[in-house]
Amino acid sequence: MYTQSFNVPDSPGLKAVPDTVPAENPELLSRFDARIEADGKIEPQDWMPEGYRKTLVRQISQHAHSEVVGMLPEGNWITRAPSLKRKAILIAKVQDEGGHGLYLYSAAETLGASRGDLIDALHSGRAKYSSIFNYPALNWADVGVIGGLVDGAAIMNQIPLCRCSYGPYARAMIRVCKEESFHQRQGYEALLVMMRGTAEQRAMVQDAVNRFWWKCLAMFGPPDKDSAHSEQAMRWGIKRISNDDLRQKFIDATVPQAKVLGVTLPDPDLKWNEERQHYDHGEIDWDEFWATVNGNGPCNRERLATRVKAHNDGQWVRDAAIAYSLKQQAKASKEAA
Ligand code: 3HC
Repeated sequence: MYTQSFNVPDSPGLKAVPDTVPAENPELLSRFDARIEADGKIEPQDWMPEGYRKTLVRQISQHAHSEVVGMLPEGNWITRAPSLKRKAILIAKVQDEGGHGLYLYSAAETLGASRGDLIDALHSGRAKYSSIFNYPALNWADVGVIGGLVDGAAIMNQIPLCRCSYGPYARAMIRVCKEESFHQRQGYEALLVMMRGTAEQRAMVQDAVNRFWWKCLAMFGPPDKDSAHSEQAMRWGIKRISNDDLRQKFIDATVPQAKVLGVTLPDPDLKWNEERQHYDHGEIDWDEFWATVNGNGPCNRERLATRVKAHNDGQWVRDAAIAYSLKQQAKASKEAA
């Protein structure tokens, strides 16, 4: 369903000859453009236009922040998981998300960004992270829906990033996608179990799907016509498939899954279009999306406050790690002397 295959076709018409801003050194630029055009990889030691570097730092750091903030809604449920098995799965999943944040901050560092600055930008509210994590996880069905739908949407968006033109990001995404695939399946399975349970459990799942469906569709970003960065990011081979095309792929993949599950997706306009060979769907509330992205969603303040507290509470661990490493270095240079 969520294909791990990397030969997903690019959105039509958007991968063309790079249209980069002229740089100081036309020779370096034309070498860079030729590599992008040939679908080659750009590595940290290679020359790259400043705009390419900035776009990557922006996207990769927002992605890293999303992984780390994404630990919070589910992390709240670790102590309340309904069984030992579910608790073990949830701990592993939340830990994976922390790991994804680490790979991604490291990928951003290969572009010369400082991890401290990126984290400061998150904690001071200057940096964006995925809108979806500013909604509450109210009950156990929400945890299943975060796995089944939210991670499902995340994978759909992230599989094409495994073919991103920037090597370290593409390589990090291969591992992230494998883990996300497990996250999606465990969420879907948890929902299936609830749907085979009592009427109250089925009602909880339906309610969770009702609350999360539209927010999941908004995860893919604004419509292509309003997407500030898509066109250039696609020319550079950073993004391979547009926001709208990925959203459509997610909807087409999720409708049959919802049928198997026995839930109704809360969109009266959702119907198969024979001519397009895709599902038509209703309009997303973009005003609500932008309010959430700009800091005014239901949980934005709470999420940031929790993140800042966790960071500050962990200061002693970072201090201890640095002190230990300095001691090791001092010991090594004494032995070498
Ligand atoms: N939430 C928050 N901000 C969003 C957003 C969303 N769902 N969608 C778009 N935006 C922001 C963009 O970051 C951009 O802001 P900026 O100009 O201040 O940087 C602005 O809205 C305009 O959007 P664009 O379409 O022009 O932006 P992009 O070309 O960057 O596309 C994206 C947005 C599709 C999210 C793209 O950045 C992307 O593919 N990022 C990598 C994947 C990612 O970050 N996923 C987040 C979820 S990770 C996750 O869910 C964790 C998992 O464990 C569940």
